[in-house]
This record gives sequence, structure tokens and C-alpha cells, in this order.
Amino acid sequence: MHKRKIRNHIYWLGAEDWERRLFDSLIPLPDGTSYNAYLIEGSEKTALLDTVDPPMAEELMTQLNGVPRIDFVVSQHAEQDHSGTIPRVLDRFPEAKVVATPKAKGMLVDLLRISEDAIITVADGETISLGDKTLKFIHTPWVHWPETMVTYLEEERILFSCDFFGSHIATGDLVVNDENRVYEAAKRYYAEIMMPFRSIIKKNLEKLAPYDIAMIAPSHGQIYNRPSLILDAYQEWVLGPPHNTVVLPYVSMHASTKRMVDRLASALVDRGIRVELFDLSVTDIGKLAMALVDAATVVVGSPTVLGGPHPLAAYGVFLANVLRPKIKFLSIIGSYGWGGKMVETFAGMIPKLKVEVLKPVLCKGLPTEVDYKALDNLAAAISEKHRENNIV
Ligand code: FEO
Repeated sequence: MHKRKIRNHIYWLGAEDWERRLFDSLIPLPDGTSYNAYLIEGSEKTALLDTVDPPMAEELMTQLNGVPRIDFVVSQHAEQDHSGTIPRVLDRFPEAKVVATPKAKGMLVDLLRISEDAIITVADGETISLGDKTLKFIHTPWVHWPETMVTYLEEERILFSCDFFGSHIATGDLVVNDENRVYEAAKRYYAEIMMPFRSIIKKNLEKLAPYDIAMIAPSHGQIYNRPSLILDAYQEWVLGPPHNTVVLPYVSMHASTKRMVDRLASALVDRGIRVELFDLSVTDIGKLAMALVDAATVVVGSPTVLGGPHPLAAYGVFLANVLRPKIKFLSIIGSYGWGGKMVETFAGMIPKLKVEVLKPVLCKGLPTEVDYKALDNLAAAISEKHRENNIV
């Protein structure tokens, strides 16, 4: 991909990673991703904002051919998908200074062995002039690591947001054309890497609220020509009330637990509650994460294996615990052969979830009419809790 002009003297550089299917050896990337860097040429100085993941370094270095000088390499985030090519850039442009938050400085030294002398730190709200263009640095911790900042180009009203507001999509589109597609990708991305820091993201949104933003240029995915698309979405995901939805992640070995899940799902739907089922043995874990963004309740279905939950169900619960969605209620259903401590094990795995646990339903072997009745009662209890909490 060649460098592409966004505005006069402002360019997209970077790489589309079309084939990548996993991030951090964990997060599914059904549509690949991109690593966006931005070149801003002022009347006196030139800045490069972020770089690319090291395996794609050659693309960035080729795009920089013909650039006579870089004065500043702004490192908005020390994670290597954005910072990993900074050493290559410094080799080519030894006069450049790396600009980072004080916390990022130490991380860049630790992670990339960049010389401390090459790094200058900027305080929250500090500006750097490029001549006719001014970069203002706004510290925004935990989007997605503690050292992160965003950059506001004052004269053009462009917010360069790095991970914040990003989406994992590889495409030839420079700006958002298909809003529905980007909305879904951005929600998946929010669920997987931003949701755990919801309370801090709320503060970051408040901090950005006074800025007049004409364009948001993240370091993953497309540029937002209509910033309200993603700003409104974040308001809803972060601050909106939970929806009248029950998420049912489950595993079933011999269909007993699956029968319970199906019965509970039907009973919930009969009560006007939306359900989303995820078979954890085959599901795209990103889809489960997305469902957790809005849901009010989670009911985990698992058979008992070796005295505890099925390992895949434990994985799902572990993820829910660390992603810290805004769910309010949780319960457990499942079948066992002869005994076990599944409920106790699950209970010990959710210290970060501030939820009310509703009475689990466990059955021995195939569910009986008594067990089905208990599942109907669980559906009724969930419905009542939602009503009491104005979750409609
Ligand atoms: Fe895209 Fe947290 O790195």
C-alpha cells in the first residue's frame, strides 16, 4: 500500500495485515487488521505518529522513502504493534526524537531497548509546534495500556487516537464507508481490549468531550469522517444501561446440558427476554465478548468433568471475569454424572464481577420434568430481576 493523503501535508502510512487471524495469540481477527501510522508535515518540522508491527516494517520504511527528515516520532502507545518499528525509523532518521508520556518512556526502553536519550516526554495537555501545525498530547491511560495518550492536531481538528476507537479490519478503504461493518468490528474490539477498563474509559471520554473533533484517525482500522459514529457508540457501550438480554455460553458433552440450555432459552424468550447462545466448543470467542457488552445476565451451562466445570466453560467464565462487562446477574446450569463442585469452582472464578448470583440449576444425568420446572423458575427469576431493575 502506498502512503495516502488525508489532508494537505497529512498522510496515512502503515500496513494492512490481511491474513492475520489472531492478536496477542488470543483475540480472533476474522477480518485481519491494520497498523496505521500518520505523517504530519508542518512548515518547520515533521512528525510521524506511531509505526507498524515489526513484521510489516518494510512497508512503512518504503513509504518513508523520499521523506527528507523526521523531527518527532510520536509514540502514543508502547505496544509493539505501534512502537515496534520505531528502532528502524530511528536508524534511518537519527535526528528524530521519540515523543511519549513519562510512563511510556520506561516501557519503550524496556520493550524495545530504545536509548533514553532519544526520548522526550510530554505532560498531559502539552503541545509541540511543527510550525503551522500544533500537536496537543492528551494523556488517556488504559486505552489500552497505562501509558497511552492521544494526539489532537489543533488546526485540522483531527484526533489521532491510536488503539482508542480502533477496529480490527484490513481493507483498502482509508475512511469509513460501510458504517455497519465498522460498528460491529469496533464493538468486537471494544469488548476484547477496552471493556475491562470501562470506568477509566468513561473519564477519557469526558476528557475528550470539550474538543471539537472533525475526524478521528485511529491506529487500527479506518478513519472516521463522522466521529459521532464511534463517539456515540462508546457512550452507549460504556455508559448505557444493560439490555434485556441473557447470554448463555455453554458446553455439552452428551446433550444433557444442551437440553437444559435450550429449555432455559425458550423460557426466557417466552418472557420477552432476548437470548444469545454460544457453544464454547466451537464459538468465536470475540462474538461472546461482543454479546457481553450489553447483556444484563449471563447463565453458564456446563457438564461436570473430573469434579469441576468443563475446561472450556471455565475458560469462558475466566474471560467474562477479566473482561468485566456490566452484567448484573449470573447463574449456572448443567448436568453431572455422580457429583462434583462445579458451582463452588465457578464462584471462586468471578471476583471481578459485581453480580448477584441466582440459584443454579444442576441435574443428575438427563434433565427430568422437575429439572425443566427448575429452569422455568430460573427464567422467571431472571425476568423478575430485570423488571425490578428497569432492564427492558
Ligand atoms: Fe494496537 Fe494495544 O496495541
